[in-house]
Parts: sequence; structure tokens; C-alpha cells
Amino acid sequence: HSEPCVDMLGRPLTDLRISVIDQCNFRCTYCMPAELYPSDYPFLPSSERLSFAQIETMARAFVRLGVNKIRITGGEPLLRKNLEQLIERLARFTTPDGRAVSIALTTNGSLLAAKARSLKDAGLDRVTVSLDSLDNGIFQCMNGVDFPVEKVLHGIEVAQAVGLNPVKVNMVVQKGVNDSQIVPLARRFRHTGVILRLIEFMDVGGIGAWSRTHVVTSEAARALIAAEFPLVPLAEGKPVLHETASRYRYRDGGGEVGFISSVSQPFCGDCSRVRVSSDGKLFTCLFAQDGLDLRPQLDSAQGLETLLRQHWQRRGDRYSEVRGALAQLGGRKQYPTVRMSLVGG
Ligand code: GTP
Ligand code: 5AD
Ligand code: SF4
Ligand code: SF4
Repeated sequence: HSEPCVDMLGRPLTDLRISVIDQCNFRCTYCMPAELYPSDYPFLPSSERLSFAQIETMARAFVRLGVNKIRITGGEPLLRKNLEQLIERLARFTTPDGRAVSIALTTNGSLLAAKARSLKDAGLDRVTVSLDSLDNGIFQCMNGVDFPVEKVLHGIEVAQAVGLNPVKVNMVVQKGVNDSQIVPLARRFRHTGVILRLIEFMDVGGIGAWSRTHVVTSEAARALIAAEFPLVPLAEGKPVLHETASRYRYRDGGGEVGFISSVSQPFCGDCSRVRVSSDGKLFTCLFAQDGLDLRPQLDSAQGLETLLRQHWQRRGDRYSEVRGALAQLGGRKQYPTVRMSLVGG
């Protein structure tokens, strides 16, 4: 057994997010706005992406250091060819004390109906689907490519039917854009087993304008839902250790709903997440500027674990808390940070 790996603020390393491709078939306005990501945008060529063997080597080292949850992200991860083969490799991992490592995936849902069964068979445990509106007009505007909402809703149903549960739905809320959809989405997913999560719009890297005035706080979103469907806090309405969402349940037994308050109530204090971009760079914060290039280390496991341990031990990131403190000064960051679609959210 190796010793627990903690950073400078005493935070352990428990979650690994692996981006498998930086491309996406959507152009969501808050992530890859079409005007900044035209079809000739210089996405990574496939030769620059980590191979499945390299990802497996990297992920195995992280599991030895304490990771018990792996999330596959993108861009849109289902655009990566033969992704099931990677999931098969990762799904065999167990923690040093013999428990299974959970494997989850965040997707826009466009290819989910076609792939849910093979993903489940490969060993995927669950999926999270990004869905910002039930109204098709608003949805098509927000995804930037006129993708119809019905297809995503169908993907969610198929994912549930094959057992990728609990399916979660992520809604990024922007004032004046889709805040009208908070209550409709809540209504739609109550009593279905799907867990809706409302996310505060963040100033992630790679987007143009962001302003606090576009953020709908979790408190406001929760009030809108609770006025229609009374809510009861789970775990005192605070995120449980190492989680992003504050969890609530509908008082009438309609299930669970979560609020991710990265802007109004940052959760850096127990952030245990590490991210690896599709070209093999390690980021210890979603808002980091640079990553550590792991590629030179990935052809053999020799030395990798030590490198990762030392890197984590030097970590002191807490961007969202620092931004909160800067709020009086406008709350905008002063430097560019890694592009969201490269590091996977
Ligand atoms: P679960 O395992 O289902 O709880 O997933 P998750 O909430 O950890 O991951 P998901 O990909 O669903 O992310 C939900 C939202 O939280 C997205 O908007 C992410 O960008 C954001 N998020 C996830 N991790 C972090 C983090 O460490 N810091 C910040 N600021 N935001 C995060
Ligand atoms: N703010 C908050 N969440 C975002 N996501 C993408 N861009 C942003 C942003 N600017 C979400 C996606 C996806 C998750 C990984 O991150 O909707 O659900
Ligand atoms: Fe694609 Fe997800 Fe970004 Fe939308 S939020 S552009 S679906 S990666
Ligand atoms: Fe973790 Fe950075 Fe997000 Fe804070 S801002 S929760 S340190 S990823």
C-alpha cells in the first residue's frame, strides 16, 4: 500500500477526469462559440492524442495514488473512435483496497442512443448528459448547430433503459438565455430517476465574454424550483466531501436535484480532482494556465507514480475561491486559462 497523496492544502487525490478528444459536434455558446471555433479551428490532430495504452498507463498510476472515480470527457467523448475499448481497459481497475473504480462519462447526448448499450457492455457505470433547455428553439440556439432536443431526450431514455444509472443531466444556466427552462427541466425529470443539476455559468477558458451579471445563482435557481416543487436539503444542502453539487430532494418523493455553485459558493476547499487533456497534459485546476506534459513518461510506468505524487503534493490551486475574493474588483480573471474543451470541464 502506498501512503495517501495529499496536496499543500491537505486535499487528497480521488477523482481523475480524462479528456479523450478536444473536438465537439456542438458549438455551445458558453463553451465553444461558433465564431471562435470555425470548422477550420486547429483542433489537435489525432496523432497528438494519447493512445488508449498511454491513457491506461496514466490512469493506473493515478489509481495507485488514491483515485477511485474516473470520468471520461471531451470535447464530446463519443466522437473518439472505439471508445468502448478504452472503457473496457479502465473498468478492470480496482483500488489498492480492492474496490472497483467507478467509470463515468459526460456527453452532450447526441450519439448516446446509438452507443449506450455498447458503453454499458464495455463496463461504463453511468453517464451525465448536458442539456440546457427543453424548449427546442432555445436548445438549438444554445448548441449552435440546430441539434434537436428530442434526440437528446431519447438518448437519456436509452441510457436509463440499459442501466447507466443514475443518469444525471447538467444544465448550465445563463440569465436571459435559458433561465426560463429551469422549472420545465425540473418538471420533466421529476419522478423519472434522472438527477437534474443546475450549474452556475463559469468564466472558463476558451470563451469570449463572461460577466457575473449572466450568472443565475444556485440560490435563485433553487427558489424558482422550490416555489413550484418544495425541496428538502440532503446533507444540510452542502456538497458532500469531494462533490460538486449541493443535493436536494423533492418533498413529494419526486427524486433528487442538485445545484453546482462554482461562482457563488466555490468548493475548492475539498477539491480532489485532477484533469488530463487529450494531448496528455496534467492540470490540477480547471482554471490552470499550463499543464504538465505527461507524454514523455507514458511509455513505461517507471517513475510515473513518483512524478504524479510530487506534482500533486505541490498543488495549491483554489481559483474559484480567489475569484470570489476578487468579486469586488469585477471578478474577472486577469490571464487566459486552459480551454474548457481541451480539459473537459
Ligand atoms: P458527478 O460525479 O456526477 O458528481 O460529476 P461532476 O459534477 O464531478 O462532473 P460533471 O462533468 O458533471 O461537471 C459538472 C459541472 O461542474 C461542470 O460545469 C463542470 O465544469 C463543473 N466542475 C466539475 N469539477 C469542477 C471543479 O473542480 N471546479 C469547478 N470550478 N467546476 C467543476
Ligand atoms: N460554465 C459552467 N459549466 C460549463 N460547462 C461547459 N462550459 C461551462 C461553463 N462556461 C459544462 C458542460 C458539461 C460540463 C462538463 O461542463 O455543460 O455539462
Ligand atoms: Fe460540446 Fe459540451 Fe462544449 Fe457544448 S459544452 S460545445 S457539448 S463540449
Ligand atoms: Fe478545484 Fe480549481 Fe475548481 Fe477550485 S477552481 S474546485 S481548485 S478545479
